[in-house]
Amino acid sequence: MSKLAYIYKQLNKRDFRVLLVLEKYLTQYEYVPIEIIEREARLPPPQLSMSLSKLSRLKIIKRRIGSLTGYRLTYLGYDCLAIRSLVERGVLAALGDRMGVGKESDVYVGLTPAEEKVIVKFLRIGRTSFRQTKRVRDYTRDRPEYGWLLQSKVAAEKEYKALDLLWKASAKVPRPIGRSRHVVVTSYLEGIELYRYKDPMDPEYMLKVILDTLRKAYLEVGIVHGDLSEYNVLVVIDEEKEVEEPYIIDWPQYVYREDPQSEYLLRRDVEYIIRFFNRKYRLKNIEVERALSYIRGEINEI
Ligand SMILES: Nc1ncnc2c1ncn2[C@@H]1O[C@H](COP(=O)(O)OP(=O)(O)O)[C@@H](O)[C@H]1O
Ligand SMILES: [Mg+2]
Repeated sequence: MSKLAYIYKQLNKRDFRVLLVLEKYLTQYEYVPIEIIEREARLPPPQLSMSLSKLSRLKIIKRRIGSLTGYRLTYLGYDCLAIRSLVERGVLAALGDRMGVGKESDVYVGLTPAEEKVIVKFLRIGRTSFRQTKRVRDYTRDRPEYGWLLQSKVAAEKEYKALDLLWKASAKVPRPIGRSRHVVVTSYLEGIELYRYKDPMDPEYMLKVILDTLRKAYLEVGIVHGDLSEYNVLVVIDEEKEVEEPYIIDWPQYVYREDPQSEYLLRRDVEYIIRFFNRKYRLKNIEVERALSYIRGEINEI
């Protein structure tokens, strides 16, 4: 069992009452004053203090160092709230192993109540810089992490919305299944990252499917991915049809077509992926300008 699942299992109803109070005041306080927790958690004082020390020990909440007592959620606490909501809504039945630690996310496998294998992505905005600056102790000692929790939630909402619209436009992306707070649940793609994919049967077909996805995103959804690379493409092999289908993942940083940055980002995505196919698979017959025109709908064939 993962550490996260292990910790989640130790929490009871009272603990969640405390966590929900801290979440409610996330936008108002860096550390929620103890008086508010006492008032709103509605727990007998001995039980409240038991819960607070348990949650602190598990690093689910953090106590303020200083004169005024207060507590805030950590990422772990926010994770537990999200998991509980997904479980209660029947989205998630089990959380499995951690598959990977990305720049701005932790990705786990999970199971739905119908035993479908899913991906559970916990957004972790600000973690990279937090880790780097954490070494400089004085600078970050009282640095609020709560801003990042909310930013991660916004990023998850964004990613979910994009996946929903892309999926409805039949683009090759993971199917969105559910979301809570900073956590997105999608279908599990039994595939291999493009950067590890050595001998494709038909690289030209793959590149065209990727460009099709970018075109659907641009024309039908009105967005530009903005972080396209061989790390954000999963190749799924369809044994029956004997084709390799590339899926584009990792959408939270997209921008709208109307954004002043969108043309620059679209060009960067396209140049990058074409150069990758060129270098890695010796595919030379698709030009950047033509691909861009195709994505923008100026021509209908590539
Ligand atoms: N739907 C999925 N199916 C299978 N593996 C996935 C899926 N989504 C993500 N992954 C795996 O998790 C890794 C990180 O996910 P990603 O969405 O790219 O987040 P990050 O922002 O951390 O790069 C991916 O590179 C891939 O290996
Ligand atoms: Mg990624």
